[in-house]
Amino acid sequence: MNILILGSGGREHTFAYKIAQSKRCNQLFVAPGNAGTSLIATNISISVTDFGAIKNCVIERKIDMVIVGPEDPLVNGIADYFLASEELKDVMLIGPSKEGALLEGSKERAKEFMIDHKIPTAAYQSFTKDTLAKGKQFLETLKSPYVLKADGLAAGKGVLIIKDIEEAKEELENMLSHNKFGEASSTVVIEEFLDGIELSVFVLTDGKNYKILPTAKDYKRIGEGDRGLNTGGMGAISPVPFVDDVLMQKIEERIVKPTVNGIQKENIAYKGFVFIGLINVDNEPLVIEYNVRMGDPETEVVLPRIQTDLVDLFEATYHQTLNKVSVKLDERAATTVMLVSGGYPEAYEKGKVISGISEIEDSIVFHAGTKLHEGKTVTNGGRVLAITSLDVDYKKALKKSYQNIEKLHFDTMNYRKDIGFDLS
Ligand code: AMP
Ligand code: GLY
Repeated sequence: MNILILGSGGREHTFAYKIAQSKRCNQLFVAPGNAGTSLIATNISISVTDFGAIKNCVIERKIDMVIVGPEDPLVNGIADYFLASEELKDVMLIGPSKEGALLEGSKERAKEFMIDHKIPTAAYQSFTKDTLAKGKQFLETLKSPYVLKADGLAAGKGVLIIKDIEEAKEELENMLSHNKFGEASSTVVIEEFLDGIELSVFVLTDGKNYKILPTAKDYKRIGEGDRGLNTGGMGAISPVPFVDDVLMQKIEERIVKPTVNGIQKENIAYKGFVFIGLINVDNEPLVIEYNVRMGDPETEVVLPRIQTDLVDLFEATYHQTLNKVSVKLDERAATTVMLVSGGYPEAYEKGKVISGISEIEDSIVFHAGTKLHEGKTVTNGGRVLAITSLDVDYKKALKKSYQNIEKLHFDTMNYRKDIGFDLS
């Protein structure tokens, strides 16, 4: 079949890398893609939120299956758009409906869903401009640090964790009354701070059945020792070494099953990924967020460990027959380390020539912010390349990634040298 992947990051290059290996895939397209995807698929220069252009592309290229990488098109209703169109309604689109995507698009909606389905999460209340005074009073009832979350999508920047109560009140006012995160912070969720170690669990669901995919842990801060500003993610490890069978069973029984059952009970059209962000507090898992897509860079360590043909898995997802397939895993550990542009996650320059990619041995180079320019691969974003390796344990895999990184170069290149530091 002909397959289209929407997106342009390391996540989408990883999807393309796996799908390009599938016997089921005839022609593969990525929109808009990057320099890495252009080597294994045809890049199409259209935006992931331009539904009209996507429709034309799907018709012209006779696309049978569409995999939606990022959240924006999902929250904007791409699945509903396909279903409402005579020409697109039978295309196998992998991604939830707009209603399903609200689990990521609205923190308040996600919290209500968790409460309704008795899924363990931090205690919370939500507030708007009209209830600002009540919000400040609620902060007084909590212990420091205070967690303030903009309700809507804020490109990963909408969560503030603040120690000082007066500063927390001020930021609440900035969010609600002064549009700190624009429309996204017109509602703010204030929640109890959970003290524990974070991990992510990935689930593929057809709305009725589910498959749990490998766990992963990402490293979001720019600086070593988890310090400094938040980024999209500086590296990841799969599986998460501290997740034993007992913890996994708690996660499945208390979180995964009620989540999928909740989706089904509420009649939410959902054929896609659920990325569950968890905090493990004294071996009790609690949900901090849902995302309605795969994570980036978690995809770069999760997908290389899946041996089952992804196209088969997606087809079963579309036909709601996930109960009839099994997911075979590579038992080895996978790690990825992100190479980023100097200055990222703040201002950075683009267009730097990348060298050394052809010298990499025994690691996979997934491109994120790259493009081809006059025959050369150049930087085109903050996160540039993800170097993924597999080995018997994460330490050996990391060693391979770091050894290969020595061969790579671009002006201002930066990366964290301590991925996995908190696990040993
Ligand atoms: P979110 O966008 O909801 O994932 O939040 C971003 C980050 O804030 C998470 O990855 C956590 O590190 C942190 N965080 C969110 N909620 C909480 C919480 N209730 N307690 C502690 N940390 C949190
Ligand atoms: N790595 C976190 C995310 O994809 O949201």
